Amino acid sequence: MKIDILTLFPEMFETIFSQSIIKRAIIEKKVEINIHNFRDFSTDPHHKVDDTPYGGGRGMVLTCQPIFDCVEKLKTKESKVILLTPDGNVYKQQQAYELAKEKHLILICGHYEGFDDRIRSICDLEISIGDYILTGGELASMVITDSIVRLLPGVIEEQSHQLESFNNNLLDYPTYTKPRVFKGMEVPAVLLSGNHKKIEEYRKLESIKKTKARRPDLLEK
Ligand code: ADE
Repeated sequence: MKIDILTLFPEMFETIFSQSIIKRAIIEKKVEINIHNFRDFSTDPHHKVDDTPYGGGRGMVLTCQPIFDCVEKLKTKESKVILLTPDGNVYKQQQAYELAKEKHLILICGHYEGFDDRIRSICDLEISIGDYILTGGELASMVITDSIVRLLPGVIEEQSHQLESFNNNLLDYPTYTKPRVFKGMEVPAVLLSGNHKKIEEYRKLESIKKTKARRPDLLEK
């Protein structure tokens, strides 16, 4: 998979994509991630990328030209263009599975007070990572990239994501490691029993209990 990210702040991505699982996925060529500063595409003599809003109002608005030209250069028939915006569809694990099947994603990070609404016309999807306002789409694009890259074949053990939270609309069961007792808190005896059927039943039940208590909305699905 190839992921192109359009931003005015390329440095923000340096640490995130050079650590841990994403770093390994890049080295092993499971994913190619390119960061583009769309200011480089501005035809303005001063490389301006924003202007005042028509009709008046606060702040500056990202202009169409640099983003249109950057997308135009990167886009192929296989591309899915995604705008990160708080008024997009709220991102869920299910969408991560769907996007992980794509060949090429172009993620556009908005910034400042907003962007010219005509930018939406070149986007296939608009995604929000939650009902809160970030200073820009950068963190949102990192979240989306991270959640997709870990699902790409060979990046992490397939079994790990079959059992994780949100699969089958259930939250993950609790896990423990050594020592068996820590500050008086004991690991549930069933996990030490060696009885795999009992362990499986226990985990399923704990998943359901946790989901009921924390996310009853998931069980309704
Ligand atoms: N840009 C600002 N806030 C955002 C959010 N919640 N999701 C995606 N992009 C954003």
